[in-house]
Amino acid sequence: MAEPILKVRDVVKRFGGIVAVNKVSFDVNEGEILGLIGPNGAGKTTLFNCITGVYRPEEGHIYFMGEEITGLPPHKIAAKGIARTWQKTRPFQKMKVVEAVMVGALLRTNDVTEARKRAEEALALVGFPREKFYVRGSEITLLEHKMVDLARAIATRPKLLLLDEVAAGLRPGEMDQLASILKRVNRETGITMIVVEHVMRFVMGLSQRMLVMHEGRLIAEGTPEEVANNPKVIEAYLGTKPE
Ligand SMILES: Nc1ncnc2c1ncn2[C@@H]1O[C@H](COP(=O)(O)OP(=O)(O)O)[C@@H](O)[C@H]1O
Ligand SMILES: [Mg+2]
Repeated sequence: MAEPILKVRDVVKRFGGIVAVNKVSFDVNEGEILGLIGPNGAGKTTLFNCITGVYRPEEGHIYFMGEEITGLPPHKIAAKGIARTWQKTRPFQKMKVVEAVMVGALLRTNDVTEARKRAEEALALVGFPREKFYVRGSEITLLEHKMVDLARAIATRPKLLLLDEVAAGLRPGEMDQLASILKRVNRETGITMIVVEHVMRFVMGLSQRMLVMHEGRLIAEGTPEEVANNPKVIEAYLGTKPE
């Protein structure tokens, strides 16, 4: 068995009296799509923020490709090959689609022509309609904005991609489209993914393996079927109000 691409060990992150992430440990295998679910407030985004260097965990260790990255600043972690998308899609208005993706490509190259080429490649990879590469953000749909977010992250040439509630706000049909895009990107590039969702359905069809967080802790791990039938998971979901 190959060495996991990411190892999270006993990570703790507190906000005042709240333990947002409480002794969380898990491995991510190279090339997999790992689902991470849990009700609102479970600590999923905070965990992503610890992995990407937005927050420094108070305890624990995070290793990426065999190297400790705990507490490194976000730009250093991005340079090592971890990219993310943000929970709140912030639709841009005036910028052109390609320019928005070039922001990602410019992490690896200072050459604007090369960055444009990589941005176009990333957009093509996610299946963004070619005739809209040069339109402004105000002219594209929410699903297309999500495709742009994904392309921007891919243009940084990551080895690991963290997706935070990427399906939020989409209609069921659009969610299915996005799920097949993610599967195709994973298959064609080998980029490892952690897909965070509080809606179970989207991740169930996407990931081979799932983790469940509740009140800062990991409470379950297994195949989508195992997790969906786990009484602890059902209780965690029933015990919280859906958004
Ligand atoms: N910057 C912050 N300051 C204070 N509390 C926070 C902050 N970010 C998150 N929290 C709290 O940490 C807990 C976990 O939040 P979060 O990681 O956003 O959960 P999830 O992404 O699973 O919905 C919640 O109780 C939330 O209110
Ligand atoms: Mg969140």
